[in-house]
Amino acid sequence: MSLTLQAPPVTAPPTYNDTIVKHFTAMAVVYAIVGMLVGVYLAAELAFPSLNFGLPWLSFGRLRPLHTNAVIYAFGGCTLFACMYYSVQRTCRVRLWGDKLVAFTFWGWNAIIVAAVITLPLGLSQAKEYAELEWPIDLAIAVVWVAVTVVFVMTLVKRREPHIYVSNWFFLAMMIGVAMLHIINNLAYPVSWGKSYSAYAGMQDGMVQWWFGHNAVGFVLTAGFLGVMYYFLPKQAQRPIYSYRLSVVHFWSLVFIYIWAGPHHLLYSPLPDWAQNLGMVFSVALIVPSWGGSFNGIMTLRGAWGKLRTDPILKFMLTAMAFYAMCTTEGSLLSVRSVNSLSHFTDWTIAHVHSGALGWVTMISVGAIYHLWPRLVDRPLYSLKLVNWHFWISTIGTVLYISSLWIAGIMQGLMWRQLKDDGSLAYSFVQTMAAMHPYYLVRLVGGGLFLAGMVLMAYNLVRTSYQAVSEDLAHAA
Ligand code: HEM
Ligand code: HEM
Repeated sequence: MSLTLQAPPVTAPPTYNDTIVKHFTAMAVVYAIVGMLVGVYLAAELAFPSLNFGLPWLSFGRLRPLHTNAVIYAFGGCTLFACMYYSVQRTCRVRLWGDKLVAFTFWGWNAIIVAAVITLPLGLSQAKEYAELEWPIDLAIAVVWVAVTVVFVMTLVKRREPHIYVSNWFFLAMMIGVAMLHIINNLAYPVSWGKSYSAYAGMQDGMVQWWFGHNAVGFVLTAGFLGVMYYFLPKQAQRPIYSYRLSVVHFWSLVFIYIWAGPHHLLYSPLPDWAQNLGMVFSVALIVPSWGGSFNGIMTLRGAWGKLRTDPILKFMLTAMAFYAMCTTEGSLLSVRSVNSLSHFTDWTIAHVHSGALGWVTMISVGAIYHLWPRLVDRPLYSLKLVNWHFWISTIGTVLYISSLWIAGIMQGLMWRQLKDDGSLAYSFVQTMAAMHPYYLVRLVGGGLFLAGMVLMAYNLVRTSYQAVSEDLAHAA
């Protein structure tokens, strides 16, 4: 079936639904601070375990999923929905489809977050990483996710531009991919309101879980935020993307390769060797689209590098692209069996996670939010100087976080392997934990700095909301 679009009649410019974008953006900042505060508390607990005060709901095991869910789905989710809703209207030149459904997606998503904040510290969990929430909440997630997808797709269908800009392709891949992953991975037999058993057993359960887990990284933390990058980086730089053709190649190669790479989480497990090898080979191949994508983003500034001196928002975005390249290269390296035998179970994995989470995901989000907020409140940004401070604080925080855990992780792995002449272990587990302590302190400082930067951002945005109105910006938005 071919779909021909005629040139739209000249009509008044569409009125966009930016109220919803504003709500999602504001909640993204709130959840970033809450989620990262829990992260800093966890980092403190790892350095000083008595900080759990013997209370079950303050224990590391319960707060950790609260942190991951808060930063990925609450902060990440709200940022993605805000950026999607904002950019799809501009790239399609139409208002978001279905005002009531749009409002439902906001209240629904926030209700799910509140349910997570209550149930996770209570210890209600499916014990599947990044899919901890119990079945009633999972059903609600499926409903809201499908509602967002309907809004997005219907807006694309109604578009007044013949072409679908590449950022929308990435968002669409995220929406369809996550709907499929979430539903299949969460199939379970409920036995009460707060307890269910997975529909899969044994290794199949592990395989389905890491097919989900890895692709949650692939389709949310990578494809979704690449959608953000492809719209907001060229906008902030006021230049077209370096190569549109490369962005399309980036899209297809990324979605095709990512979906096969999940088994790299299950190396040396009972998973058949052929499946482990498949995961390893596809993970190494992922280097190609990853470098292509970051090259495309970075080269968008060709001939205009000078902008980086004066625009700290652009600095956030460009640094995010550099971290994207670095973290994905590291990911491909960690997928190689011999490297994974050292890194798995150690803090090296946590360093890799946070080079992606802080350096890539948060920095591109922060850049997009600084770009959005003045346009949403029709006022100039309160202080670019504070943005610059934020940039340096969070860059230093990220470097402290990941470099301390690289050293800690590699040391940990080597200490576990070290044998005495008689073949017994050279170090007890407690000795390896004691050796980690100084590095955990450095990570705590790094995480604290990163959180401080986010608080600075919240202050800057609140002050922006009370700035004198700018005519220019009102029109530019
Ligand atoms: C080329 C792209 C990437 C590859 C090949 C890759 C590969 C890997 C590997 C091999 C592991 C360790 C698995 C284990 O030993 O259990 C891992 C863990 C992880 N990676 Fe990546 N990675 C990539 C990009 C990213 C990005 C961009 C992020 C975004 C933040 C990310 C987030 C994570 C997370 C959250 C984990 C921890 C999973 C767990 O809970 O065990 N990765 N990745
Ligand atoms: C102030 C910033 C942050 C701090 C201090 C922090 C701290 C922590 C700590 C202490 C852990 C537990 C590590 C362990 O199990 O040994 C953790 C895990 C994790 N954090 Fe963060 N975090 C921060 C920001 C973020 C952000 C923004 C994201 C995602 C966008 C994120 C995603 C994760 C993930 C996916 C894990 C699980 C890693 C794994 O299982 O391999 N964190 N974080």
